[in-house]
Amino acid sequence: MKWIAVVIVAIALVVVAMASADGQETDYSRKGADTCLSCHDDEVTLAIFKTVHAVPSDSSGPFGHGQLQCESCHGPGDAHSGRVRRGEERPAIPHFGSGPVASLEDQNGICLECHKDDVGFGWHTGVHPSDEVACADCHVSHAPADAVMQTSTQAEVCFDCHQRQRSETMKAFSHPLLQGKMDCSGCHSAHSDEAATAFAQQTLNASCEQCHAEKRGPFLWEHAPVSEDCGLCHAPHGSNHAGMLTQRAPLLCQSCHSASGHPSIANTTDGLAADLPSQYLLGQSCMNCHSQVHGSNHPSGSKLMR
Ligand code: HEC
Ligand code: HEC
Ligand code: HEC
Ligand code: HEC
Ligand code: HEC
Ligand code: HEC
Ligand code: HEC
Ligand code: HEC
Ligand code: HEC
Ligand code: HEC
Repeated sequence: MKWIAVVIVAIALVVVAMASADGQETDYSRKGADTCLSCHDDEVTLAIFKTVHAVPSDSSGPFGHGQLQCESCHGPGDAHSGRVRRGEERPAIPHFGSGPVASLEDQNGICLECHKDDVGFGWHTGVHPSDEVACADCHVSHAPADAVMQTSTQAEVCFDCHQRQRSETMKAFSHPLLQGKMDCSGCHSAHSDEAATAFAQQTLNASCEQCHAEKRGPFLWEHAPVSEDCGLCHAPHGSNHAGMLTQRAPLLCQSCHSASGHPSIANTTDGLAADLPSQYLLGQSCMNCHSQVHGSNHPSGSKLMR
């Protein structure tokens, strides 16, 4: 086994030599992870060995042959690992931890060195740009399971910063996000290069239709707003109206359709006294008759009634 150590030391020395060219505090430690573990052997740190990052046979991973191990992510740690004289402060390690010395962009840059292709070219201009949100704000590296990658725990990670969406999902009718049965990634792409809202698919409707395929059509009789934008009637995170509607019928429908054709204005006391309760307003309201509000394939379904 001795020759392995020799090779590692040789590699480390080459790296040290290359890195030193940049100036001070750029030296890598001599023994890689072994150096670090002599001080950091707590449970959290050691959990890195239970992750995909610690597969020795994966030569492209931090612990692969010839890689810098801990310092692939944390940056050159020789100065940090050294002896500290009484009264002096231990030099900080460049990346990650409570007192990182590198800029956010540098910290993301170190992850991107291996993950450019996964994250995509658009990261820099996307919704979560590199100068505002760190990879490590969402991804936890020292955990056997990365919460943001699991459907059951992802929403909590996002809610940390997106409080408004948390409160929306607490409304009476919502997608089962709080329950962990569905994740934000169902509709959003966290790495997206889209400047706005970052949908998982090209369009909003395509995102919805991944799961609600029966709403896709094409229908013989389309309802124009449905093919245009599901969000015209539905609040995607949650709503206090049944069916996650943005408002209740008939108001919802009347935001586009004139109320004059149908007697669909709210009943006054007079109205109630004079008539039976209006079939236009009770029960399913407009949907009492126009039940095929997403479109119809019935030959005589042009009014979306069958
Ligand atoms: C000689 C002991 C020693 C060695 C070796 C050592 N560290 Fe540390 N490390 C410390 C101490 C002590 C702290 C806490 C520093 C403080 O609180 O000021 C620390 C803190 C850290 C932090 C957290 C920084 C922060 O600001 O909270 C990280 C990350 C870290 N070390 C990584 C490493 C890595 C990677 C290596 C190997 C290259 C390494 N350490 C080697 C003693 C060591
Ligand atoms: C895949 C990149 C990566 C590798 C490899 C890695 N770390 Fe980390 N480490 C991080 C990130 C990111 C953080 C910040 C907290 C988090 O996301 O888990 C961190 C945090 C830490 C901390 C600080 C924990 C705290 O309380 O703030 C220590 C100490 C540490 N790492 C030591 C090590 C040691 C020792 C190794 C090698 C055995 C290592 N790390 C390997 C990415 C990595
Ligand atoms: C030295 C290269 C390297 C560095 C640096 C690195 N990674 Fe990785 N990462 C890998 C490899 C290799 C895999 C496994 C790839 C695979 O299985 O497709 C991986 C996997 C991942 C995964 C997927 C985990 C899973 O459970 O499937 C995430 C997320 C990730 N890395 C995030 C990060 C973050 C965040 C950083 C910076 C803190 C980072 N990586 C730094 C090489 C690296
Ligand atoms: C806003 C939260 C967030 C940020 C910031 C973020 N990610 Fe991710 N990442 C995710 C989610 C969520 C997934 C799971 C993929 C999915 O569900 O679409 C993921 C997946 C991954 C994967 C697994 C491969 C893949 O594409 O599925 C890698 C690797 C990764 N991220 C690396 C990074 C790196 C590197 C950065 C920083 C440049 C970063 N991520 C920033 C949320 C984030
Ligand atoms: C069912 C699909 C869907 C799911 C699941 C979903 N979203 Fe959205 N999200 C949307 C749509 C559609 C929009 C754009 C319309 C809007 O602003 O309400 C949006 C907008 C957003 C916005 C931007 C709001 C604004 O004011 O511009 C944020 C932030 C957001 N979502 C975060 C989240 C988070 C965090 C989760 C997971 C807890 C999540 N979303 C889950 C569909 C979804
Ligand atoms: C560390 C904080 C943080 C975390 C964690 C985070 N985000 Fe964000 N998110 C932001 C910031 C900052 C912006 C850009 C400013 C804004 O519009 O609020 C943003 C923007 C967005 C937008 C676009 C909003 C718009 O205005 O169009 C969506 C969608 C989004 N995030 C989804 C997610 C999802 C999904 C997750 C979890 C996988 C997540 N975010 C985790 C901070 C965060
Ligand atoms: C990842 C899968 C997925 C995606 C993507 C998705 N949904 Fe859903 N949707 C669900 C699940 C799961 C339910 C809950 C079904 C249940 O509770 O029986 C649901 C329920 C609904 C409901 C009924 C709510 C109620 O209270 O009856 C509406 C309306 C809805 N989704 C609209 C949308 C819209 C609009 C989009 C796109 C913005 C969308 N969905 C995207 C999975 C998804
Ligand atoms: C014109 C308004 C409108 C638009 C646009 C719309 N919906 Fe709906 N949707 C409704 C109404 C109203 C209900 C309640 C139906 C009921 O009570 O019979 C509903 C119910 C639903 C339901 C739950 C009940 C069911 O039928 O499964 C889902 C899922 C749904 N819509 C998905 C979608 C998707 C996906 C889109 C975009 C392709 C969309 N909706 C566009 C009005 C609309
Ligand atoms: C965002 C605007 C919008 C909303 C909200 C909306 N519609 Fe429509 N609806 C339209 C448009 C546009 C047409 C197509 C009109 C045309 O072709 O002349 C249409 C067509 C119709 C038709 C067929 C009309 C015809 O002449 O063939 C019916 C029936 C209908 N809508 C019922 C409803 C009901 C019921 C609701 C409430 C659940 C509703 N609409 C909500 C915009 C809307
Ligand atoms: C009792 C059944 C019934 C209810 C409830 C009902 N409609 Fe209709 N609606 C009809 C019939 C029948 C037609 C077809 C009239 C025709 O062909 O001339 C129609 C036609 C329409 C049309 C097509 C335009 C037209 O006049 O031909 C629209 C738009 C419409 N309804 C919207 C609504 C809205 C919005 C509501 C709720 C406020 C509603 N309907 C409630 C039966 C109903």
